[in-house]
Amino acid sequence: MLEGKKIILGITGSIAAYKSAYLLRLLVKENAEVQVLMTKAAKEFITPVTMSALSGKPVLGEFFESSDGTWHSHVDLGLWADLMLVAPATANTMGKMAAGICDNLLLTTYLSAKCPVLVAPAMDLDMFRHPANKRSMEKLQEYGAVIIEPGTGELASGLSGKGRMEEPEIIVERIKEFFSAEEYKPLKGKKILITAGPTYEKLDPVRFIGNYSSGKMGFAIAEEAAKRGAEVILVAGPVKEKTVHASIKRVDAESAAEMKEACEKMFPFVDAAVMAAAVADYTPKDKVENKMKRTGDSLVLELVPTTDIAAMLGKMKRDDQTLVGFALETTDARKNAAGKLKRKNLDFIVLNTLEDKGAGFMVDTNKITIIDKENKIEEFPLKTKREVAFDIVYRLMSYLK
Ligand code: CTP
Repeated sequence: MLEGKKIILGITGSIAAYKSAYLLRLLVKENAEVQVLMTKAAKEFITPVTMSALSGKPVLGEFFESSDGTWHSHVDLGLWADLMLVAPATANTMGKMAAGICDNLLLTTYLSAKCPVLVAPAMDLDMFRHPANKRSMEKLQEYGAVIIEPGTGELASGLSGKGRMEEPEIIVERIKEFFSAEEYKPLKGKKILITAGPTYEKLDPVRFIGNYSSGKMGFAIAEEAAKRGAEVILVAGPVKEKTVHASIKRVDAESAAEMKEACEKMFPFVDAAVMAAAVADYTPKDKVENKMKRTGDSLVLELVPTTDIAAMLGKMKRDDQTLVGFALETTDARKNAAGKLKRKNLDFIVLNTLEDKGAGFMVDTNKITIIDKENKIEEFPLKTKREVAFDIVYRLMSYLK
């Protein structure tokens, strides 16, 4: 995919520079030709010897080679590259890039580069959220650079928050995606069924039992899968969300029964199903034709269980199909999620708990843990739902080879 692509890897002075060695190895493994540029501060964190050994090229950093006076042309470098990636990018370097300051080779190359520029910031959380840094990132985006958002988690400072450079595998995936908005379609030929949103269980013509699910997570997964070439059937509960991608076929379902019917019909024809909907577990036993009147007495509603759609698909599942479920838990999260994984015959389950701030319904962020059949547990930091969708689809891709 990256065969023969010419990439400038700019490394700046952050502790995350140690990850750049692995990032470089991944790029070289993909047969990309990588020219490493390091700032002076970067060399305090990782040696140029490591980077030149891995890239098979001398590392550049200075305008002139003091030993023999060779001049390194930033203009030539900028023209040579198909892509420039700055990873890790410090607040200092981003500030200079945004301001047009060019007191090192990395910065002059950035200003001369004709190619697309990707920037993966890494810094402490307070620096990251400082308005000055935010402004630099906005400026860079305005100038056309793509910012690969840092993750949230433990930072080298000992603090915890947003600022950790995105993992090298994900950065490489982003580069691939970037190079081939059109041609890189790892899910081409695959059909994926996705459920999203709440269900409404009708009490009478004007009332229902529902929940706060916004559908954002399921819709984001649908977009990510479609972007990677999958044909998506999105069974959506009543939500405001809209689909964007042309290869998403949306089927609206109001109640758990309607959702079940749609899924049962489609499942035999898909390679995978992702159950992101918050399906009602109970529905009123009697649906009243006319609006219920206030009687003055207390009202007792009898509810009956709905079909567990995920469990039903788990029973229907063939060996060549993958089934992914969600678990929203409030207590004993991992234990409950692992139980659901088994009970519903899922291949992996995406757990989010309301104990985590920023996770769950109605918010744009989520913090997930993925548990698979082998009980392998992977915990992710707090991310936007779009980024979480990317992580889930990325994981799903390994099942759909
Ligand atoms: N699910 C489903 N059909 C249902 C209920 C749940 O397909 N009638 C799916 C959800 O889409 C999710 C998974 O099952 O992928 C787990 O949903 P959750 O509500 O957390 O689990 P339940 O099995 O309903 O268990 P409980 O409500 O007791 O936690």
